Amino acid sequence: MNAPANHELSVKPPSFVQHPKLVAWVSDMVALCKPNAVHWCDGSEEEYQNFCDLLVKAGTFKKLNPAIRPNSYLACSDPTDVARVEDRTFICSKEKNQAGPTNNWMDPDEMRKTLHPLFDGCMRGRTLYVVPFSMGPLNSPISHIGIELSDSPYVAVNMRMMTRMGKDVYKVLGSHGEFVPCVHTVGAPLLEGHKDSSWPCNKTKYIVHYPETREIWSFGSGYGGNALLGKKCFALRIASIMGHDEGWLAEHMLILGVTSPEGKKYHVAAAFPSACGKTNFAMLIPPKGFEGWRVTTIGDDIAWIKPGKDGRLYAINPEAGYFGVAPGTNEETNPNCMMSLKRDVIFTNVALTDDGDVWWEGMGPAPAHCIDWQGKDWSPETAKESGAKAAHPNARFTVAATNNPAIDAAWDDPKGVAIDAFIFGGRRSNTVPLVTEARDWVEGVYMAATMGSETTAAATGAQGVVRRDPFAMIPFAGYNMSDYFQHWLNMGEKLAATGATLPKIFTTNWFRKGPDGKFVWPGYSENMRVLKWMIDRIEGKAKGVDNVFGISPSYTEINWKGLNFDQSLFDQVTLFDKDLIVKELELHGELFEQLAYHLPPALSKTKEKLEERLHA
Ligand code: OXD
Ligand code: MN
Repeated sequence: MNAPANHELSVKPPSFVQHPKLVAWVSDMVALCKPNAVHWCDGSEEEYQNFCDLLVKAGTFKKLNPAIRPNSYLACSDPTDVARVEDRTFICSKEKNQAGPTNNWMDPDEMRKTLHPLFDGCMRGRTLYVVPFSMGPLNSPISHIGIELSDSPYVAVNMRMMTRMGKDVYKVLGSHGEFVPCVHTVGAPLLEGHKDSSWPCNKTKYIVHYPETREIWSFGSGYGGNALLGKKCFALRIASIMGHDEGWLAEHMLILGVTSPEGKKYHVAAAFPSACGKTNFAMLIPPKGFEGWRVTTIGDDIAWIKPGKDGRLYAINPEAGYFGVAPGTNEETNPNCMMSLKRDVIFTNVALTDDGDVWWEGMGPAPAHCIDWQGKDWSPETAKESGAKAAHPNARFTVAATNNPAIDAAWDDPKGVAIDAFIFGGRRSNTVPLVTEARDWVEGVYMAATMGSETTAAATGAQGVVRRDPFAMIPFAGYNMSDYFQHWLNMGEKLAATGATLPKIFTTNWFRKGPDGKFVWPGYSENMRVLKWMIDRIEGKAKGVDNVFGISPSYTEINWKGLNFDQSLFDQVTLFDKDLIVKELELHGELFEQLAYHLPPALSKTKEKLEERLHA
């Protein structure tokens, strides 16, 4: 039998909520979802600890050994709920063309009709948490507010880490402030007398965005970007629509500061597709040969960028924490990240060691025994036979940005930081050179629009298939990709009209392979060498070499101190193979055919110019 439908449940808000429209919306959602209780989150430390205790009792969290990993927890999800579900993600604009060919679309009325019965009673037996959050520093002119209603305490604790969450948000909101309404349910009403699962979810999943009303509705998943609605759903999909309408940018970009030994500071925003090392680049420690240089983190995944009165672009990190992929992270690849994870962390889907700590593939030597993410015994010997991973390949850590020893002093500055350069980087084993600077803004937009990434076997079973991922935004642009390109072109024109110097645009490729099939470029901290060349270009200190796509460094323009990387290796990562470029441009043509509706003519013209240059 169902728990009693609680239509009469009081939603009386605490005194710090003084927003009639918000209270009315919560009442409507309570009437629809029918939870047993409503909890208005205040974001306090005490509340966080209470939620963690609750999650431990429910079996969702295991408390890790406090002597090794203080105040940290491990959650293991249902094996069917381990990642974002792109095929279940919808942009429900009035017109299909507004969502464009790269998004799943459904008519908004149709979708509302589909979702209504799913949400009706979906929170029976559970508590509805009202989670107020600011994306970006409170009171920043670049920030925006969201309210997530969720029946998952796991979501509430993660949102406290990932956003500025708590009652101060209501002060900013006042009595009539705007917020993005986000409704989330795991879609597993709790029947009376039934035992709850440690990771409730539903095999039916919908991650839905309504652009016209700027609403987010998520059903059936408790994991990551499906459930922490401030991240991909708000900060990228809905925010990209807001940015288009209001003249700013919401981008899948890390933001870093880089300071020279003389104390001159630059800010760079860089877009890489998922799983291409954004967190590593954002936390880079300069290698030997770069004494006195410092890289500091403003953000590791998302940037909101608005034009300032001076015509420059100012960026904030809308998030307040990192939800990063654990496997592959170690003291070599990302020491700052490992430092960040020493305490106060929520781990999801990594392995539990016998001494109550965590382990994942690529962290360091494997323990002789551990409990894998699915709760089974795991050892290196049994894994050799079965191939079973101790941690899920998409296992995550959630940690506050303030844990990062390389946090930038301005990471929480409401003004944001002025961007000097954009980087767009794909994963390509050939064709695309280590680094190229676009000759101008339009060429930069072309390079970003046509960037591609090879799929990895772990993700798709097919290695080396190039998936076009314009601006690293394929899963995240909330509207038609061609209109998004046009928006970037318009932004460039507007900024140029102010007389301000536009940020330079670079593309990078850390992933070229040699004839032996191995990566040639050492990557990680060595990427500093490329970053330094970019700074030299900004300062007019490096001449560069002209090529088909733009300007690249000569061997001698890169600081090689401390690294053995001779001219022949450099040639391998920078070589232009004409046949491959002809093929590449054909693939750009295929992309442009797919995106023909509203494709900016400037991009087709740029392609023609590149072809002329290639055949000249
Ligand atoms: C992420 C992603 O989780 O891009 O950041 O998938
Ligand atoms: Mn991302």
